[in-house]
Amino acid sequence: MTKTMRTQLTERRGRHILMCSPDHFGIEYEINPWMRLPDAVDRKVALAQWEALYRVLTEQLGAVVELIPPAVGLPDLVFTANAGLAIGDKFITSEFRHPERQREEPLWQRWFTEHGYEVATLPSGCPFEGEGDALFVEDLLVVGHRFRSTREAVQDIARIYGLETLVLELADPRFYHLDTCLCPVSKDTALYVPDAFTDESRDAIEGRFADAITVPLEEAHRFACNSIVMGNDVVMSHDCPATQAELVARGYCVRGVEITEFLKSGGGAKCLVMFLDHDALTARTFGTRQGDHRAGR
Ligand code: ARG
Repeated sequence: MTKTMRTQLTERRGRHILMCSPDHFGIEYEINPWMRLPDAVDRKVALAQWEALYRVLTEQLGAVVELIPPAVGLPDLVFTANAGLAIGDKFITSEFRHPERQREEPLWQRWFTEHGYEVATLPSGCPFEGEGDALFVEDLLVVGHRFRSTREAVQDIARIYGLETLVLELADPRFYHLDTCLCPVSKDTALYVPDAFTDESRDAIEGRFADAITVPLEEAHRFACNSIVMGNDVVMSHDCPATQAELVARGYCVRGVEITEFLKSGGGAKCLVMFLDHDALTARTFGTRQGDHRAGR
C-alpha cells in the first residue's frame, strides 16, 4: 500500500469496508425464519439494489470499498458482515453455525490472509458470526449471542482482546443476529427492538445508551436496525420513515436504500458491509497484549 493510500485510509477511518457483489446470491437453503425456498431472488433487482448501496457508500460517503470475488454455490457470501471481526490488522474468523455457511470460511480466511491480516480463531471453537453479532461503537464492542454466535464465543473476544464489551442475549429467532435488532449510532444513542432481547439484556441496553430509540415493529421487520453508520451519516432501509425521523431529529443525515431482495434472505444494508478498520483501537488494545489472540483452538 502506498503512503498516499494509507493516509487516505486513515482520513477515512470507519469508512474502509468489504463488500461482495451478489452475482451468485439466492435462496438455496433455509437457515433463518426469513428464508423460504419458494421466494426466488430476482438477481437483476438484487444487483441493482447492491450497486445503489455501493454508490451511496463510495460516491456520497467517501467509503473505500474492497471487493471479495463472489463464488458459485455460496449464495450468502454477499453478507460480508458475517466473515468475522477485524480489529486493526487482526481478523477473527467466523465459525458459522450452519454447515451451509461453513463452506464460506476458507474463502474469508484466504482473503484476509492475502490482504495482510493475521487470521485468528477463537479458543472456544464455538460458533461465532462476526460483525453480525459484534458491533463497535467507538471503543465499546457490543456483542449478541444465542441463535448464531454462542455466549462462550462472544465472551472470548472480550477476554482475549481486553475490550470494553456489552454482552446481550437475543430472544426472537426472527432477529437472529445482533445487527438485525440493535444499531449503536453513537456511545449514547442506539436503535433497538426491545422484544428481540431478554429482559435483562433490554435493561442493559437501556442502562448503557442514554438515548435508546425503540424501532416500531413493522420497521424492525424491514430491517431498520440493520443500518450502516459512518460518522453523522446513516444508510438505512428506505421504507422506515419513523426511525429515519428519529435520527434526523437528532441531526443525523439518513440515506434510504432499497434492500427488499436481501430481506428474503434475512439480510439488510449492514449485513452487506464489513468494516475493515478499527485502527483507533489497535494501538491501545494491542500495545501490551500482542500474541494473546493466537491462543488457537
Ligand atoms: N441468509 C443469511 C444467513 O442466514 C443472512 C445473513 C445476514 N447477515 C447479518 N449480518 N445479519 O446467514
